Amino acid sequence: MNHSNTGSIPGKLLQALQERTPTLWCNPHYQLTSAVVLPGDAGSPAQAHDRLARHAEVLSRLFSELASSHGQVSSPLLPVPQLREALLPGAADAGNWFVKADHDLPVAGSVKARGGFHEVLSLAERLLQEHSAPGVPLPELDSQQARAIFARYTVAVGSTGNLGLSIGQIAKALGFHAVVHMSADAKQWKKDRLRARGIEVIEHSGDYAKAVQAGREQAEQDPCGYFVDDENSAALFMGYAASARELAGQLAQAGRPVDAQHPLFVYLPCGVGGAPGGITYGLKHQFGEHVHCFFAEPVASPCMLVQLASGQDALLSVYDIGLDNRTEADGLAVGLASPLVAPLMRDMLAGVFTVADERLFVDALRFHQTEGALIEPSAAAGFNGPNWLLRSEGGQAFLAGHGLDHSLPQATHVLWSTGGSLVPATEHQHFQEQGRALLQASANGSWGVPG
Ligand SMILES: Cc1ncc(COP(=O)(O)O)c(C=O)c1O
Repeated sequence: MNHSNTGSIPGKLLQALQERTPTLWCNPHYQLTSAVVLPGDAGSPAQAHDRLARHAEVLSRLFSELASSHGQVSSPLLPVPQLREALLPGAADAGNWFVKADHDLPVAGSVKARGGFHEVLSLAERLLQEHSAPGVPLPELDSQQARAIFARYTVAVGSTGNLGLSIGQIAKALGFHAVVHMSADAKQWKKDRLRARGIEVIEHSGDYAKAVQAGREQAEQDPCGYFVDDENSAALFMGYAASARELAGQLAQAGRPVDAQHPLFVYLPCGVGGAPGGITYGLKHQFGEHVHCFFAEPVASPCMLVQLASGQDALLSVYDIGLDNRTEADGLAVGLASPLVAPLMRDMLAGVFTVADERLFVDALRFHQTEGALIEPSAAAGFNGPNWLLRSEGGQAFLAGHGLDHSLPQATHVLWSTGGSLVPATEHQHFQEQGRALLQASANGSWGVPG
């Protein structure tokens, strides 16, 4: 098949992508300090952080899982020395490693809690403002008065699963009618969990983009319908960006400075790009030139890599270059990058690497074996990041090119682990069996490890 519209993706890179060879792409347009600002009235990462904090008390009343954190939607930052040793044995230059454990985020069990909660809280605030007389204090979001207003509205979303769990649960808890349009690859347990909580689930036979499109069209026909548009939402994006402040506080508490002598490298699983893009945006606002973010995508679904490496504004999907977007990493099975996020990442993102599905199972298993954590395969996508950066030719050229090669022993690496705490035990067992079988089948278990 001839794929003529591939933008200006360099031939060698295009071939590696088409052959599904795990690859690191370092962004030639990367600017250490990016001045890019999200257009429109979505506010700032700090405002999103304040919004989530403002409603913490309501959240702790709505969800018993949030009682111990007093309503804060936050996750631990875990030091992972043993995981580091398993992934990069004996490396003197590997610096300090942490996992940002968003797989453990309460209620939704994934990074999607951040953006999803933020968007639905923003909507709820706006509706109360619209329905209240000027100057009158707004009622609490969980008051009878507020619920009576929310009950008139439907909140809908299209999702491969985890965003649906986030939006569906917060919307339902506030009293909205909640509808989740799910793609064929969404896991059955996610659909079951939503339905058990009174959330309407509509299944679609196509991929993620089809589910989003169907949801968008249905919501457009409903005057009281609100669609959370994962491909275009600034409110989701800012909710993810709010995490930067949380991470800054945790790094400070762990005694890890972020400055010229102590660079911070962050590795983020990417689907449509909203979550990793928002986090990157927040981190760049927080740490400027001293943080460097890399996205991780499945070899079958490298939509952000394809879009950014094409060097064009016109949208380019993984299907356009002959890939099928079929991956076990259901949360990352996205063929076309967000048209909102991709342009923002053009000079802000350090690079993207791709990951074979086998590697996801093996790395999720390694995390369990070394640190006792249970995550879903998608959430392990970033774990090979330090390896790419420190051990591949492209990674070393990136480090030297940006004057980062001398500070590596003092560097901090954060692997963002994005989902898994709600996954049923039987599924985890299945993931681990696959990981063990793959490790046994391979003498060194080194899929996609460069050099
Ligand atoms: C576990 C997990 N990690 C990462 C992502 C990526 O988020 P985004 O699609 O916003 O890029 C998703 C998306 O659903 C996910 O479920």
